[in-house]
Formats: sequence, structure tokens, C-alpha cells
Amino acid sequence: NILILFGPPGAGKGTHGPKIEDLLGIPQLSTGDMLRAAVAAQTEVGKKAQAIMKAGGLVSDDIVVGIIRDRIKEDDCKFGFILDGFPRTLEQTKALDKMLAEEGACVTKVIELQVPDEVLEERICGRWIHKKSGRSYHVKFAPPKSMKTDSNGKPVAESMLDDETGEPLMQRPDDTATALVKRLAGYHGETVPILKHYEPKGVVKTVNANQKMDGVWTEVLASLSRK
Ligand code: AP5
Ligand code: ZN
Repeated sequence: NILILFGPPGAGKGTHGPKIEDLLGIPQLSTGDMLRAAVAAQTEVGKKAQAIMKAGGLVSDDIVVGIIRDRIKEDDCKFGFILDGFPRTLEQTKALDKMLAEEGACVTKVIELQVPDEVLEERICGRWIHKKSGRSYHVKFAPPKSMKTDSNGKPVAESMLDDETGEPLMQRPDDTATALVKRLAGYHGETVPILKHYEPKGVVKTVNANQKMDGVWTEVLASLSRK
């Protein structure tokens, strides 16, 4: 099972990825999470990626392909994996197909989370994340149990804590309306053409991700069992 979770920023890749991971017992590999970890650790890759990510641009193909190449060699990827946020360019797509072909494997499904651009700003600007686990919350759609609001209805930062660990949540530096414009331009310009590459192979399954999370999950589940 080699799955690609596909969709624009805020589509729900990070929301549904961990649930597929639990269901199928294969790891979710998020290049965004891996790059954020590299930035936090200030590795060479992290230093190169930091400013690009904050502005909403794409990190170079060499870097992300290298990260994925190393990661999928690890033992827990033996029976498959879920790619979140990769591939994002045709160059990355070709590199992925080549890596897989060397192992006699190929992409089994591309789950496209379809959402109109207009709803994404609210999702992105209301998101809070637990950095260590990658769990994401939303001030309106998925608030943490601990959330308190001030007299203007704004969430109190100190009350934004992870449900499982009680650790503080944070907002991503690229979750601004300005960076989102750039991220969406990259998505439509560089990433959407990837679908044309996979469509003839019959592996693309489209899900309506512009509905409540539970409804999206039901459709994701159905797409997993659809041939
Ligand atoms: P990455 O981390 O991959 O960010 P992204 O693609 O922009 O996607 P997001 O994480 O914003 O969206 P998501 O679909 O995971 O949404 P989520 O489920 O959290 O990449 C970040 C950056 O890293 C890139 O910009 C780039 O610089 C670099 N990078 C990464 N990979 C790269 C690559 N391959 N090549 C080059 N550069 C790369 O949901 C969002 C919010 O909405 C949450 O708050 C959630 O609670 C809420 N929500 C989810 N579903 C619903 C729903 N149905 N209804 C209401 N709210 C919902
Ligand atoms: Zn994500």
C-alpha cells in the first residue's frame, strides 16, 4: 500500500493521515512535518528551508526527494506508507516513481481531497498544532478541550493545550493569509498537474473535503476500499 494524500493547504491531509495510519498500520510521512522538525533542530536542511517555508514557497526538489528517499528505506515502511505533502512537483513525482520502481513497487492510490480555495483561509488561520505529534486543532472546527476565550471570543493562547499531552499548542509561521496566497499559487501551478500524471493509471480517487470532518473521513474510508 503506497498512498498519496493529495490536496491544497488546509484540505485535511494532516487531519486524516493519522487516522489512515491507525487503520492500516502504515506510517504517514509528511514532508512538511519533517521539514518543520529540521527547522526546529536547525540542521543544514532546516536552515535552508526556514525562510522559504515561512513565505509559503516550495523547498527545492533535491532536498525533499533526499528526505523521502532516506525515510522510505526505514523498517516501518516495509509494508507501505502514506505520503502527505509529497510529491508536490512533476520532478518529485518522477523521482518517486523511479525510487519505487527500483523496489518493484508503485503508487497504489492518490486520495485527492477536493476543496474550493475560498474555504481554506479560515481553516489555515484558525489552526493550532501540537508540534511533536503533528496533531492539528482548529479554534472553531476542532478546538482543544482546554480552550478558553476572552471577552471578544478570541482564544486565550495559554489555554491552547494538546488534548493528549497537555503540552502547549502553537501556530505555524506560514499560516497567514499572505503566505497562503503563495502556497495556493504553488499548489495550482506546480502540484495539481501531478494528477494528470496519475489519472491514466486509474489510481486517483476524489473525495469531497468541503464538508464536516466526519463526512470527509467516511468518504476517505470508502475511497480506500474502492478499486
Ligand atoms: P505542509 O506541511 O505539507 O503544508 P500544506 O501542504 O500547505 O498543507 P497543510 O498542512 O497546511 O494542510 P493539511 O491538508 O494538512 O490541513 P490540516 O489537516 O492540518 O508544507 C508546509 C511547507 O513545507 C510548504 O509550504 C513548503 O514550503 C514545504 N514543503 C513541504 N513538502 C514539500 C515538498 N514536497 N516540496 C517542497 N516543499 C515542501 O487542516 C487544516 C485546518 O483545518 C486544521 O486546523 C483542521 O483542524 C481544519 N480542518 C480539517 N478538515 C476540516 C473540515 N472538513 N472542516 C473544517 N475544518 C477542517
Ligand atoms: Zn499538513
